[in-house]
Amino acid sequence: MEENVFNAMAKKYDTADRIELANIITGEVKNELNGRTYGSLLDYGGGTGLVSFELADQFESILLADASAEMVKAAEGKISDRGLDNIETLHLDLTKDYTDLNADVILVSLVLLHVPDTADLLRSLYKTLNEGGRLIIVDFDKHPEIDHPKVHNGFTHEEIRGRLMEAGFDDAEVRTFHHGKNIFMNKDASMFLAGATK
Ligand SMILES: C[S@@+](CC[C@H](N)C(=O)[O-])C[C@H]1O[C@@H](n2cnc3c(N)ncnc32)[C@H](O)[C@@H]1O
Repeated sequence: MEENVFNAMAKKYDTADRIELANIITGEVKNELNGRTYGSLLDYGGGTGLVSFELADQFESILLADASAEMVKAAEGKISDRGLDNIETLHLDLTKDYTDLNADVILVSLVLLHVPDTADLLRSLYKTLNEGGRLIIVDFDKHPEIDHPKVHNGFTHEEIRGRLMEAGFDDAEVRTFHHGKNIFMNKDASMFLAGATK
């Protein structure tokens, strides 16, 4: 079976650069949440929790789910070190596993680019989101200079809007919110946030 690259990265994932980028993402997700508090958040592909742990006070409960067992372990260590009592973790890959989980908000930050069949994952996330809930995707804008066999080279806004609508979501809105140096495979790039409702 093919080795999960994130398993090998997990212990050293939280570098200064990744923390800086995650803080920018967290700021934009907070804008999207608009100061409201919600019941449950599913941080899908949440990694070491760099984004969702900073949102802990806006949700009654957070479930960080990730396909890498080692990333989940790293997140668990941080949860117990920081005493974050409303966050739980789950080893889950919705491209392979079934779940009957549900959530009021689903966050998918820098995950979609690693998922070969994004349409299939978005359909599973649609099933998982509660009626009236909000899906928030953060990812890179399409970058024509990037070419990697395992990673999408970002997405156009039209592509994302189309896939969200095909999966059943309504009111899809996509906006670029950050341009940065060397942030996508060592190239200057920009990131978008997409929000949609069920
Ligand atoms: C670049 S990291 C982003 C982590 C975190 N969301 C953040 O913004 O800091 C991508 C994460 O997605 C996870 N991932 C990749 N494919 C996945 C899948 N099919 N299901 C769940 N998680 C996945 C990886 O294990 C990794 O933790």
